[in-house]
Amino acid sequence: MHDTPELLRFDPNGAFLDTTGISRAQLRALAPQLEAARHTVLHEDVDQYAQPQTIPPEKQPLDAAFFPLPEQMLAEYRAQRAASEVGRILATAQRLGELVDRVVVLGIGGSYMGALALMNACCQPHFNELDRGRRGGRPRMYFAGNNVDNDATQGLLQLLGTARPASTCDERWAIVVISKSGGTLETAVALRQFLAALRASCGNDPALLRQLIVPVTGRSGRLFELAQALACPELYYVPDGVGGRFSVLSPVGLLPAAILGLDVIRLLQGAAAMNAHFRTAPVGSNVVLDFVGVSHLLERERGCTVRVLSVWSAALEAAGWWYDQLLAESLGKSARGATPLTAVNTRDLHSRAQQHQEGRRDKLLTNVIVDAWRTDPLAVGASELDQDRLNQHADRTLPEIMAAAIAGTNEAYRDAGRPTTNLHLPRVDEYCLGQFFQMMMLATVVEGRVLGINPYGQPGVEAYKRNMNRILAGG
Ligand code: PA5
Repeated sequence: MHDTPELLRFDPNGAFLDTTGISRAQLRALAPQLEAARHTVLHEDVDQYAQPQTIPPEKQPLDAAFFPLPEQMLAEYRAQRAASEVGRILATAQRLGELVDRVVVLGIGGSYMGALALMNACCQPHFNELDRGRRGGRPRMYFAGNNVDNDATQGLLQLLGTARPASTCDERWAIVVISKSGGTLETAVALRQFLAALRASCGNDPALLRQLIVPVTGRSGRLFELAQALACPELYYVPDGVGGRFSVLSPVGLLPAAILGLDVIRLLQGAAAMNAHFRTAPVGSNVVLDFVGVSHLLERERGCTVRVLSVWSAALEAAGWWYDQLLAESLGKSARGATPLTAVNTRDLHSRAQQHQEGRRDKLLTNVIVDAWRTDPLAVGASELDQDRLNQHADRTLPEIMAAAIAGTNEAYRDAGRPTTNLHLPRVDEYCLGQFFQMMMLATVVEGRVLGINPYGQPGVEAYKRNMNRILAGG
């Protein structure tokens, strides 16, 4: 159903408000700055990345390689098919699917949030509960190594079963461990614990064990060395110049997605389509530049430092978390940077809407609206028990109720002078998710260039890591 590839659409109209929003003229006036930032991302960053000796100190690190990655991976796949990285990822996914019924993805931050977002968005909502046939023969997927939570870890180990060696595909499981640095404590501790359980589940057979661990890491580091020691036959690299939270369209996100049976080619094609749009569309019809322009102006002119991504589909909640992390870690520096927050509606209308409508005037609301649902519209239905007075809406469907909720909420926010924008996703599928990821990564970098904040690197978190290691060592 991909005959007419559609692009995401950004509608900023609800941000143009007389006394509490911004004006179209202000957005037009910002155009030269936005275009200059785009030029930096398209040309200066790319050139400097290619010649590292030219990178000025304030732009270190310059992890600009995420930008051309989708096109590069697609071109390599077209030219080399099975021998390309995408081809190898597809083969690994196929192999694991035939061998195991469960895959545990170990990773934290940028090393798992994209995969989780993809699973939640593109798989059947209860994927892990389905039998193997209804999962298309694909393994169930669990995420760990993103915390040091004793009970969560014990709970998953219990589920995987450590009492006796696995003898059938239904009992067998595998590990995909993802860490760019290879030294992140949470992931390393989890790998040690899950590796011990996996070894037992393999009946201590090292040949089988190494078939069931697939590392994704940098070209050196502790995880790389461990993978060598285990003689893992398959290993994927996080590409040079691609930072953790910018790595969803590398093996970091693609391998788990392929294991789940998702269409990774469509994902990459969606991202490439967003790149093409970003390169040429002018301010006023460029979803990346317009999104940045409106968000930046509202922060600068109206003190809207809280950015609420209001997703009108439960499938997009983890995509919102992925974006929260991207924005928070990239621009939350030098006592600056907006605070991202994901809300899922209509669910959170009953927990947050009060504050969003009448609380502090420090928020920009960006609705993420799905234009077409994947499954048939479900009607309310008629009933002889009409005590709930719903027979009057018997023919109304959930998409119609959702549309009414979106329109009603937007109207209420407009009446209350609350700046609101709409980002339309034609559908929730791999092609649109690919666009969404690339759009948000580009927007974050463009905004960083406008603000003069280096979006790459995360200097702040080094302090907590140092302190934690000192405390652990008894210091
Ligand atoms: O965006 C980032 O760089 C971080 O969120 C990292 O992805 C996270 O800290 C995990 O790092 P690593 O992949 O090195 O284990």
